[in-house]
Order: sequence, then C-alpha cells, then structure tokens
Amino acid sequence: MTTTPTTPTSASSSSPEPGGGPGLVFPPGFVWGAATAAYQIEGGVDEGGRTPSIWDTFCRVPGAVAAGDTGDVACDHYHRWQQDVDLMASLGLGAYRFSTAWSRICPEPGVVNRQGLDFYSRLVDALLERGITPWLTLYHWDLPQALEDRGGWASRDVVDHFVEYATVVHDALGDRVTRWTTLNEPWCSAFLGYAGGQHAPGRQEPQAAVSAAHHLLLAHGHATRALRAAGTGAEVGLTVNLSVYDPADPGSDADQALVDRHDALLNRVFLDPVIHGRYPQTALDAWAAVGVAPPVRDGDMDVIATPLDMIGVNYYTSSLVSAETSPEPPTPPPGRTTAQPMVGVGQVRTVPRDVPRTAMGWEVQPDDFARLLRRVHADWTGPAGVPLYVTENGAAFDDAVGADGSVDDPERVAYLRGHLRAVHQAVTGGVDLHGYFVWSLLDNFEWAYGYAKRFGIVHVDFDTQRRTPKTSARVYSRVASTSILDV
Ligand code: NOJ
Repeated sequence: MTTTPTTPTSASSSSPEPGGGPGLVFPPGFVWGAATAAYQIEGGVDEGGRTPSIWDTFCRVPGAVAAGDTGDVACDHYHRWQQDVDLMASLGLGAYRFSTAWSRICPEPGVVNRQGLDFYSRLVDALLERGITPWLTLYHWDLPQALEDRGGWASRDVVDHFVEYATVVHDALGDRVTRWTTLNEPWCSAFLGYAGGQHAPGRQEPQAAVSAAHHLLLAHGHATRALRAAGTGAEVGLTVNLSVYDPADPGSDADQALVDRHDALLNRVFLDPVIHGRYPQTALDAWAAVGVAPPVRDGDMDVIATPLDMIGVNYYTSSLVSAETSPEPPTPPPGRTTAQPMVGVGQVRTVPRDVPRTAMGWEVQPDDFARLLRRVHADWTGPAGVPLYVTENGAAFDDAVGADGSVDDPERVAYLRGHLRAVHQAVTGGVDLHGYFVWSLLDNFEWAYGYAKRFGIVHVDFDTQRRTPKTSARVYSRVASTSILDV
C-alpha cells in the first residue's frame, strides 16, 4: 500500500508511531506490491481463444521441466482471479505487477482476440476498485508458438509483431493502466531460451541468442515509442535481472576479468544499450571471440535508447566466481542441459560462501542487494534521471503446511526482512528508488523447476487450489500497510 507515514517526510529510522517500537520508515508514496506472471499462475491454456505459447510446447519436451510439470492449470488464476484480487486487498497491497499473455490477446499474427482483452480488462477494473494500482508487463517469456515457428526472437520480424501486440493491449487498457513494462528479464528470454536451452524455446544457438537479445531491445524501444505516441501519459519501463559478482581471489587478474565478463554479459548487456545507447565493449569482445555479434542496423541504437520513465530491477542472489575450473565438468541430470547461457563467458566455477541458501541453492546476500542498487543508481538510472523500482525480490523455500493448516516460513521472513533493510539503506543513501514488489504473491509454476520451488508469500495447494497466507504474508502485509519495517 502506498501509505504515507505520519511523521517523517523522507526515509528515516526513528520511532515512527506513538507507542510503536523503532522502525525503518520508507518515504511517502513508496509503492508496495506483489508480482506474478501470466504463464506461471493463469492456467486456462486452452480457454478464451488462447493459442499455445513456447512454454506450452517446451513443457511437453521430455526432461525439459522437472516432474513433467506444465502451466496447464497452474494456480487456476484464470478462473480464480476475483478471489486473488480479494487476497491482495486483504494483504493491503498498493500495487500488483502481472503480465498479459500475448497468445491470449493475439492468438495468431494479425488477429486480435476480444475475449483475451476482456479478461485483463475485468482484472484491471477489480484491482482499481480495491485501490490497487495495476503494473502491467507485456512480455514475461510466453512468446506465441506461432511466432517461434517463424524464427522467434532470433528473427527481426518479431519486432513488428510485438509492437502490434503492445498497441492492442494499450488501446484496450491504456485508459486505466498507467504503469507499463515492455519486457521482463530479457536476458532470460534471450540467453536461457536460445543459448543455454534451459528455458523455452530450448534452443542452443549462440548467434540466435545474441540476435534475440538485440531484437528484444529493439522491440522494447519501438513499443515504448508506440505507447508514448498514443498520448495517454503511460509511464513505460523495462525490467532487468541483475546480480553482483565478486572474484574468488581478489588478487587474481583472471578472476577479475571473469567478473567483468559476467557483469557485461548479464548486467550491462541490456542497461548500457537502453541508457547509454551502446553495447558494452566487453560483451561485444566476448561474443566476437566465439564468432557471434548482434545484428545492429542503422538507427537501431537510437530506438533502443528511447528515454524511459522507470527501470525495474529483479534481484535474488550474488556469486563469487573463479577462473580456476575443475578438470571434470559436472554431468547434467538426464534430459538437462549444462550449455552455458552466457555466450562468450568462458569456463567458470562458482565458489560457495558460508551463508544461508534458498531452495534454489541461491546464496542469501542482502548486503549485495544494497550495493547493487547503489551501483544501478550511480551507473545508469541516476545520471539518466530515471526512477528505479525493485520489480522482483524473494525466495523459494521448502514450506510445509502445519497440522493446524498454517504455513510458517521463518527463512522467507528473514530473507525479506534482510532485503527490505537493504532497500531502506539504498533509499536513505540517496538511491532514487520508489517501490518494491515481492516475488511472488502465490506459489506458482517456477519454469524449468515446475511446482517444486515455492516463492509465494501465499501457499497454494495445487490439488485443491486452496490459498493460505504464510507468516511472510503477514509480515509483508504489515510493511505494505504502514510503510515501516519493524526492527
Ligand atoms: C524471475 C522471473 O521473472 C520469475 O518469473 C521467476 O519466477 C523468478 N525470477 C524466480 O526465479
């Protein structure tokens, strides 16, 4: 909830309420939300005129998704959306970040499906009625299969199709939705989808991955221009996944070079073009070394660098990297690939640190989150005058339902508290950061991990579709409702 705390006018740590304990107070207007994505929660894959996306296809590839899980039913949000909006209202959320499913709205290239638009139109109305601001993401990884059949993101033609789809959604919802994100984590779409093959469409073609990255950027730039041209005052942004890399041996030039390469190939590869209008030279060099290059044409970089109204950062973890690799690469589990998604990064070993880990095996590193936010402000958003939002942060843990039906998740509570403290630190330190979205509202379909990994602050029983707010939901709800983190 974007509640205004009573006393302080800016972020501070003090005793915020008469009789209350000391707390970290966030600035007035700070946005508190939760995030989801269409394929991860909706289900209803054959309903309302929707056609298959690349994830429907990928889920059918033996071994591609753990336990053979699919998004066919997921959280059945397609049928339970009213209940889910009530749930958000009961948690005191001020904003809800969701994505629209491209193939529900444009089931075939050039075809618009009114039923698909109506679904999201009803959702938006219900959110607004409850005072929850909709934050709409146009692309969260579910490319229509019909477009993958024509080359997918590796083909330049996809750009026009994306702009057409973005315009259709905006024409239908732009009178009520003011916050627009073109793409969620384009790094994953390009490099997990087309180089590593861990995500749909499961291709392992380095050139296709780099082409996909370029076309995603171009689609983002053209769609941003199209939405602006409509004159509704839409605020448009891009969400990227970022991480922090450190050298295992701070004295090693090889480790430092590897850190720089990771940084260029994950953090800078989308932010540099969007903010500075150029690809990082380190990325171009790493790609050239393996014989690939982005298919840049005259004028592309200007379109890509179209000024933005916001940047969203998704942060989960950080790593220590070493250039000293083990002689024997690990054997992949059956059906799984260990193809390197980071094209041109070379051999790498991640060195574990003695910190808690989530169920994904990801290190819990909240201090690096504060570092990262300061760095994003210093290197990209601050100089460009672009406001920053945390559009995803959260953790998977093996939650268990207690005998009384409750779900106590102390590890997630600790994760969230640590990361919210980092957000507060960044804000008080001058980072132009205006909101935070927890990932995720609900346990959901965690891509190649299926339903085995639970990120929700609300537990979902996938047999009964029963929703049970976890302890973390109560803790987060308190923060969202008061804009104060108790310490
Ligand atoms: C980022 C993605 O946007 C989201 O879809 C995913 O579930 C989370 N990370 C957790 O892996």
